[in-house]
Amino acid sequence: MPRPEDVVFPRRRERQEDRRKEGQHRKLLDEFFDHSTLLAVSRLVNRGLFDSVDFPISTGKEGGVFRATLGSEFRAIKIYRVSNTVFRHLPVYALDSLRRESSVKNFGGLVFAWTRREHTILGRLAEAGVRAPHPFGHYRNVLVMEFIGDAQGNAAPRLQDVPIDDPAALYEDVVQQIGRMAREAKLVHGDLSPYNVLYQDGHTVLIDVAQAIPIEHPEAPRLMERDVRNFAKFLGRLGYSVPPEEFLKAVGADMLGPRPAEA
Ligand SMILES: Nc1ncnc2c1ncn2[C@@H]1O[C@H](COP(=O)(O)OP(=O)(O)O)[C@@H](O)[C@H]1O
Ligand SMILES: [Mg+2]
Repeated sequence: MPRPEDVVFPRRRERQEDRRKEGQHRKLLDEFFDHSTLLAVSRLVNRGLFDSVDFPISTGKEGGVFRATLGSEFRAIKIYRVSNTVFRHLPVYALDSLRRESSVKNFGGLVFAWTRREHTILGRLAEAGVRAPHPFGHYRNVLVMEFIGDAQGNAAPRLQDVPIDDPAALYEDVVQQIGRMAREAKLVHGDLSPYNVLYQDGHTVLIDVAQAIPIEHPEAPRLMERDVRNFAKFLGRLGYSVPPEEFLKAVGADMLGPRPAEA
């Protein structure tokens, strides 16, 4: 059985010559992989979900996403920070519903419930045929999911970072994704932006779904409208203008009930 600390960045010793990287990894190890997170990681390794953590793809205030390896395949590992800062950016409606769902009082418990929630939502999206990372498992504050990237192990870029030469095709693609999410998975993303959509082989892949809410939630119409407006703004910057009303209709927003302005 590997020692927990040998699962995370095991190749770091081979990279002794690269002082800068070594220093960065050291810092991340201290920041993200506290003792209980290391134990959670090794528990998932023992369950056979991955062999090792390779390097960070992204690190933020609420958590980090790391590439991991399983045999000849790759996995993505999302680790939520177990500290009070984690939910600073969390929408109040989501936190409320989470408290109700999980009846957890302490903060660590909330983070674990949040991790489980992202896993469950990814599962619902996979069932509904929405392109999103397939979930493989979770434990405490660690989520294991499909790695979105190429066969060489390079993570797919965010929509924000890729040149788009056919915004009309992108619009059709996103309408299909959001529409399927609403009609089949009965969910509204709630934080849709070009930062939370990856671009792989000319298609969008939705990520960062923990805050998604059911279409029957009273906040759903407002969030759907906000998602659509944000995305329409992004398309506008690409030189493609689509009236938000048309966009909303195309994703099936009418089945969400009246939006607050009309209510
Ligand atoms: N399954 C994945 N495969 C590859 N890269 C991913 C995956 N999930 C997330 N990422 C990368 O990590 C970044 C942060 O992930 P995200 O879920 O948006 O977390 P955050 O809560 O930090 O915004 C994304 O912008 C993306 O670049
Ligand atoms: Mg994000």
